[in-house]
Amino acid sequence: MSAKIAVVGSINMDLVFSTPRMPLPGETLMGHQFHQIHGGKGANQAVAAARAGGSVALLACVGNDVNGHSSLQALQSEGIDCQYVRNVDGMATGVAAILLDDLGQNSIVLAIGANALVSPVDVDSAQQMLSKSQIMLCQLETPLESVRHAVELAVRSGVQVVLNPAPAQALDDVLLAQVNYLVLNETEASMLTDIRVIDVLSAAEAASALQRRGVPVVIVTLGGEGIWVADIGSAYSLPAFKVNVVDTTAAGDTFVGALSVALAEGQVLRQACLFAQAAAACAVTKLGAQTSIPNRSAIERQLQ
Ligand code: ADP
Ligand code: NA
Repeated sequence: MSAKIAVVGSINMDLVFSTPRMPLPGETLMGHQFHQIHGGKGANQAVAAARAGGSVALLACVGNDVNGHSSLQALQSEGIDCQYVRNVDGMATGVAAILLDDLGQNSIVLAIGANALVSPVDVDSAQQMLSKSQIMLCQLETPLESVRHAVELAVRSGVQVVLNPAPAQALDDVLLAQVNYLVLNETEASMLTDIRVIDVLSAAEAASALQRRGVPVVIVTLGGEGIWVADIGSAYSLPAFKVNVVDTTAAGDTFVGALSVALAEGQVLRQACLFAQAAAACAVTKLGAQTSIPNRSAIERQLQ
C-alpha cells in the first residue's frame, strides 16, 4: 500500500515572461520569451508527493476555463485524485504573471482567482477522503479559515498535519498547536517569529520559538545550506546534497511533498528529511517548477 497523502491547496497557471528589464509604469516593453507552466503551491506539492511514490488526492478550486481544464489534465496524468477539485463557473483559475529580467530578478503578480473559493464546506465534502489519509498537507494560498477547518478535521481523525506556511502570514497558537510538522524557509521563519533567520544559528532560535508556541516538529529549509530540524527532544542540522544548481524554483515544494510521503511510509524523521533533501536536490538541477520535480527512482539514485 502506498502512502495516502491529502493536499489542501492552490492551483495556478504560471505565465512566465523573460524580459531585458522590468517595465516602467505606462511602458510597453518587448520581452524575450514566454512560457506557460503549471504551478501553485498545492499543485506542485501534490505532484512532488505523487512522483515520490504517494497516493495523492487534492482538494482545490479552479475556474471553468482553459487554464483550469489544462491544470486538471496535468494533475490527472500524474495519477492524482482530482475528484475534490471544484470547478467554479464565472471565476478565473489562479494565475501568476512572472517577469524574469536579464539580471535574474523576478517580479510577480498573483491573481488567486478560484483559489479564494476553497471553503470549509468543500473541506466537509471531502471529509471521508481527508480522514482516511495518513498525512494532510496544507499551505497558505487557500483561505486560512478553510485550512483551519481542514486541520481541525485531520486532528479529530488522527491524521498527521504538515503545514508549509507560505506565503507567510501571522498564525495563532491554536492553529500552530494542531500542526505536527511545520516546514518553512528563512523568509517564512522570519515572518512567523521576531527573529531574522539568515543561517543555521538563527534558524535554530526561530524553530525553538515556534516549538514554544506548540508545534512539536519544526523544519527550517536553508536553501543550499540544507535544513535545521527541531524534533521532540533533539535538534540538528543536515547539509544539502552537493549538486549542480540550475534553478531553485519549486525546491521547497518538492521538499515538502517528498517529506510527507516518507513520513506516511513510517520513515523516522532524520531519514524522511534525507529523502526530502534528495528530492529537492534533484529539483534544483533542472529548470522550472513541475518540470523539475523528480520521480521515486531519481530520488533513490540521489540517495545512493
Ligand atoms: P524555498 O524554495 O521554499 O525557498 P529552500 O530554498 O530553502 O526552499 O530549499 C528547500 C530545500 O531544497 C533545501 O532545504 C535543500 O534541501 C534544497 N536546496 C535548495 N537549494 C539547494 C542547493 N543550492 N543545493 C542543494 N540543495 C538545495
Ligand atoms: Na527547478
